[in-house]
Amino acid sequence: MLTVDFAHFNLEKLTDGIVYEDFIGFYKNVCLSDQLIGECMKINQELEEGLGYVLLRNCYNGDDLKKARKILIYICKYFGWPVSQTRNLKFMEEVTHEENNNNITAKIGYKSRSSMPFHTDRCDRNILFCFNKSLTGGVTHVVNSVQLYNKLLNALDGRLIQILGEKFPFDRHGEIYHNELPWYDAKIFYPTDTAATFVAHFIRYFIDSILDSREYKNDELIMEKIKLLDAIDSAFMDKDIGADVQLEKGDMLIMNSHLSHHARQHYADDSIDSKRLLLRVWLAHKESRKLPEDFSHIFHDVNAGAYRGGIWPDSSSRNFHMKEFAGK
Ligand SMILES: [Fe+2]
Repeated sequence: MLTVDFAHFNLEKLTDGIVYEDFIGFYKNVCLSDQLIGECMKINQELEEGLGYVLLRNCYNGDDLKKARKILIYICKYFGWPVSQTRNLKFMEEVTHEENNNNITAKIGYKSRSSMPFHTDRCDRNILFCFNKSLTGGVTHVVNSVQLYNKLLNALDGRLIQILGEKFPFDRHGEIYHNELPWYDAKIFYPTDTAATFVAHFIRYFIDSILDSREYKNDELIMEKIKLLDAIDSAFMDKDIGADVQLEKGDMLIMNSHLSHHARQHYADDSIDSKRLLLRVWLAHKESRKLPEDFSHIFHDVNAGAYRGGIWPDSSSRNFHMKEFAGK
């Protein structure tokens, strides 16, 4: 995988002179450095036309969380426009273990130390920035979606390849408007000739919850669909494709959600005072690809280069922040 050492850019110094009042104000105040623009163009190309994931090393190795936040926002300015990750409007989420969290995110796992099954995120790009590493475990396995798709074509029998072209039901998780069904239908892969236009979409937890529900019936392919999902799970875990990334303090892993899948191992912490902490941002960006119409429900705007994706309190909040971040 493409790994770039950012130590010589001294991001701490570059961000020192920018006043921090809030996330949006800081993002708007950032001026881009020519040297960094050149490096980020190569990274952008790898994200859109290459493997779809890049590791930046040594972005910040200090212990000041506010400085780390500033550096992450600074990097966002080079790679896209932040989108909200929760219905409470949050542009930077903490991926860390939290006690007594019973909401849906805890079930998915990013607020726990549990392993997280492989999936794509509901955004164009996802950045994970390691502020504190785990004591053991927590390896992120990331796989290029084109390689995964080609591996499946080689491994599956003709019938399962046919099922691979079918649509699967994805849980809307309560985001239901105008008497819609509690799920939307989408394919797991939308293959094309080039990585630049390929699209993948997968959150097994969201599919299983619908396949198991009483409302979802009369699908004669259901058993074959489950067999295919198991085959995809096992192909993803094979070590002949993808990379195992142990995030060290100061590392940023940037992933294109349409061109890569990722999963995380369970982990153990050093102590309560020094637990694993990743900062996460989700981005839309101006070089993004056109998405299938089937994604309208989750991305709202499927056009290339749109401000899209994320999880929002409501559409007026999304529209307001589109103007703030993307000037649209
Ligand atoms: Fe994720």
